[in-house]
Amino acid sequence: MPLTLQQEAGPVPSGPLDFPDSPLSRSARQPLMLGLFLNLQDIRLSNLPTSSTWTYDYNKALVQKADALGFDIAFSRTQWLPKGGYDGEASLDSFVALGAMAATTHNILLISTLHVLYGPWHPLHIAKIGATFDHIAKGRWGINIVTGHRAVEHEMFGWNRIEHDRRYDMAAELFETLHRLWTDTENYSAEAALGSWKIVNGYITPKPAYGRPILVTATGSPAGIDFAARHSDLVFITSPGGSHIDSALETLPAHIAEIKARARARGRTVKTIINPMIISRDSEAETRSYLSAILDNKPPPTATSFGHRGYDSDAHAWRGRNDPNHKQGLNLGGNIEIVGTPEQVVDQLAGLKKAGIDGVQINFYDFARDLDHFAERILPLLQSAGLRL
Ligand SMILES: Cc1cc2nc3c(=O)[nH]c(=O)nc-3n(C[C@H](O)[C@H](O)[C@H](O)COP(=O)(O)O)c2cc1C
Repeated sequence: MPLTLQQEAGPVPSGPLDFPDSPLSRSARQPLMLGLFLNLQDIRLSNLPTSSTWTYDYNKALVQKADALGFDIAFSRTQWLPKGGYDGEASLDSFVALGAMAATTHNILLISTLHVLYGPWHPLHIAKIGATFDHIAKGRWGINIVTGHRAVEHEMFGWNRIEHDRRYDMAAELFETLHRLWTDTENYSAEAALGSWKIVNGYITPKPAYGRPILVTATGSPAGIDFAARHSDLVFITSPGGSHIDSALETLPAHIAEIKARARARGRTVKTIINPMIISRDSEAETRSYLSAILDNKPPPTATSFGHRGYDSDAHAWRGRNDPNHKQGLNLGGNIEIVGTPEQVVDQLAGLKKAGIDGVQINFYDFARDLDHFAERILPLLQSAGLRL
């Protein structure tokens, strides 16, 4: 008889941060981890011409460049949106595309977003595909676990949106099971209490190189943080004060301390990362003119625009953006905005590090061009400032 899953029972699952030689532990030794937010999903923020596009070849070139520059992480999002999307042309599935990039990169960690409740996926599928990507990437691949915050997405899969905290309970049940499948050396049987799957004598090979693939959770809610404290290595956080850098620097320290304390209470360590949009040119005048060109060409918001406030999201993570007690930013696509000359960018990144951030997952408006500028003008300053080894 299959066992019914005892959710959250048993020893705390170990992960790649428990292995000093894992690619994640190596990256975590950087004073400030550097990530690149890939552009596999075309989101139209402005009509200012840009090289950025969703195609595999464009993003493969970006990730290879970031790998050669010593970046630690490449990540991309995935959404399931009806026609119109976020007004872009197309998007590639990041589970598949970042898995494919494992074969064309050397050191960089590759984090694929996966809506773990849609389908529903059977845990055996995620465990086997995950073990395969882990093997190809030699422990550099991981999952950004998302449960779907927009009603239209759940409806696309044929049901009404699952209640917010229940989604994290369902994800916890799934990841308890995935952990068993990735680590158990005997057959494993279980029947979900919350999900709709059952496993009889399940067995997965190869075993991931460092316990399991890297796990990431993007969240700002108590239920999401509890889930991340038990299951994730990296927590993608947002600024509780909204997207202006000053508000972020004020509100992040307490938020980060709380997240780390919750992980510690479970005997675990988690690292926090945040995704800034960086707008930078060599001088203040050039930076201002680049920023103005982006803003002046911003189309008026529609019901499908990215970050449109009225849309059907129940996410907690971005609620800070509506907080009138904090300075708000320009809604440029990152969770926070860093605008300035290379020196000013480094000062702001140093501020984030001081606030407790372990890594940044950087967005650019014009990825290829702005990554070149970052490499030439900002990276050397980060090294001089002691933020990169
Ligand atoms: C940096 C970042 C990236 C995210 N990427 C995705 C994504 O690719 N797809 C998605 O559906 N949700 C994505 N989300 C949304 C989260 O999955 C989650 O729904 C949101 O953070 C709200 O969670 P909360 O209510 O626990 O705060 C992302 C969130 C953040 C902060």
